[in-house]
Amino acid sequence: MEPNIQLKDINLVYKTRNGEMVDAITNLSVDIFPGEFVSVVGPSGCGKSTLIQLIDGLLKPTSGEIIVNKKRVTGPSPDRAVVFQDFALMPWRDVNKNVLLGPELRGKTNSFKEKAMDTIRMVGLKNFERKYPYQLSGGMKQRAAIARALTNEPEILLMDEPFAAVDAQMREIMQEELIRIWQATGKTVVFITHSIDEAVYMSNRVLLMSARPGRFIDELKIELPYPRTLEVKNSQLYFEYRTHVWEHLKTEVHKVYDTQAS
Ligand SMILES: Nc1ncnc2c1ncn2[C@@H]1O[C@H](COP(=O)(O)OP(=O)(O)OP(=O)(O)O)[C@@H](O)[C@H]1O
Ligand SMILES: [Mg+2]
Repeated sequence: MEPNIQLKDINLVYKTRNGEMVDAITNLSVDIFPGEFVSVVGPSGCGKSTLIQLIDGLLKPTSGEIIVNKKRVTGPSPDRAVVFQDFALMPWRDVNKNVLLGPELRGKTNSFKEKAMDTIRMVGLKNFERKYPYQLSGGMKQRAAIARALTNEPEILLMDEPFAAVDAQMREIMQEELIRIWQATGKTVVFITHSIDEAVYMSNRVLLMSARPGRFIDELKIELPYPRTLEVKNSQLYFEYRTHVWEHLKTEVHKVYDTQAS
């Protein structure tokens, strides 16, 4: 099978206002295949959000090439949708209007109205359609951002810690719902998370990122059946995957602290 997302030797250097250069990502390469659910795990500041924005086309790599469906990425496109870490809702639009932003930009509001209703219901915001972001809790804003991404019916879903602000019970419901949607639609999902458990629970493959400047240093294929029931979660293999990811994270997080301390 051919990959639908290819990152080839990507470097991304941020230039700050005072002229300082920050190497966020260095020599990062990966192939992601149609229908995969890939999680990315790495220490804070290693370049995960940068990676999501690169794949979406919001950021251009300083060098290297990003190919999606055999075309070089030059900017955002409706075949990709992002759930941003900070939700990025528009404060002057209510939930319904935020969710319909993508279709509206493409002049397709009417044909997506029903879809928007469905996704709003799915994320549990049915009675909040007319509320504005300031009237929502952090978890509700995050769910509205997820509904917005799904309403676009993207082929590729880029999710930057989408459940971080959602409470524990809601998180489990949303995890199950996302797996259900992913299985039903065959979307490709790139999923950033700080939760080791979530990465192993959700994914086909976990990519392990180094401390900044970020690149992939290891990957783990999660060969467990779906649905990942309690029995699967209690299996020896599940435990081994979790331990592997945890050992990796511990090493990389230490590198960050050691650099900061010195
Ligand atoms: N616009 C910017 N200008 C300068 N430096 C930036 C900019 N955005 C991010 N950085 C730096 O680039 C590095 C990677 O940032 P990024 O947000 O991608 O990390 P992350 O892995 O998503 O972190 P977290 O897990 O905390 O969300 C960090 O050191 C950050 O300080
Ligand atoms: Mg981030």
